[in-house]
Amino acid sequence: MKSPETDGISTVSTRASARQADLNAGSSIRSATEKVRFHGRTIQGDCLDIMPTLPDQSVDLVLTDPPYAINYRSNRRVLRSRFDFIENDMPGDWIDIFAAEAYRLLKQNRHLYCFCRHDTYPLFYTAFERAGFSLKRTLIWVKNNHGSGDLQGDYAARDEWIIYAHKGRRLLRGKREDNILEFPKIHTGSLLHPTQKPVELLRFLMRKSTDGGEVVFDPYAGVLSTALAAVEEERDFTMIEINREYIAKGLKRLMNVERSSHYEFETPDD
Ligand SMILES: C[S@@+](CC[C@H](N)C(=O)[O-])C[C@H]1O[C@@H](n2cnc3c(N)ncnc32)[C@H](O)[C@@H]1O
Repeated sequence: MKSPETDGISTVSTRASARQADLNAGSSIRSATEKVRFHGRTIQGDCLDIMPTLPDQSVDLVLTDPPYAINYRSNRRVLRSRFDFIENDMPGDWIDIFAAEAYRLLKQNRHLYCFCRHDTYPLFYTAFERAGFSLKRTLIWVKNNHGSGDLQGDYAARDEWIIYAHKGRRLLRGKREDNILEFPKIHTGSLLHPTQKPVELLRFLMRKSTDGGEVVFDPYAGVLSTALAAVEEERDFTMIEINREYIAKGLKRLMNVERSSHYEFETPDD
């Protein structure tokens, strides 16, 4: 028998997919309450097709974690059956298209954060520069423990890099922070996605760069960690993700927050 939670999710997914033809871009979910405190939209599809359909200067923060262009495959045998690979994880002109669209969609005087890795960092850095961003700094996320990899021939990596850039100029909120961000990684057994990011880290970046009610945009949303952070921080969100299974898992996570906060999900037509 399905749990009520599972039933709720599948209802949302089914109603959402019914709107696919209208949207020409997959499913769209809008979250609402009697008194709406935030709006969330999740679109299933290829962000390189969907981003050009969204209006200029319509988001207040780009906070995203694209494929690192490294042809990722999990080294962990335990994960291999669950998480084989990341889609579109190869270098290519998609990085320039994504960067240019991110710039166009972002309002003036706003911020972008983009996770990346040391070896493909130059591809992303130069693409953001070409798109018009002012590159401010690279933040280093230091994890509490390291991953796998070449166990004998390489240093064990505990870092991930985050490009921080401005469109125009906006001041950071709160006290001055340094660029070393120490946040625990998600325990392997709890992962819903092979490269899932901790919600607390995303919430921290959101608080530094947005005010309540502003729109956070993530075109490579995975299991909707950025949406979850936005809900927790009472920001609106627009998410795009190509993989339906990840969206379904992400919606389930959001439903849990909604439930505990007495929110409901609706499709825009309801
Ligand atoms: C690094 S993962 C993001 C994980 C996410 N931060 C999380 O915590 O769940 C990148 C995601 O981008 C998705 N993706 C790859 N190419 C895409 C595209 N062209 N449009 C939309 N999503 C895409 C992949 O399916 C993958 O889930």
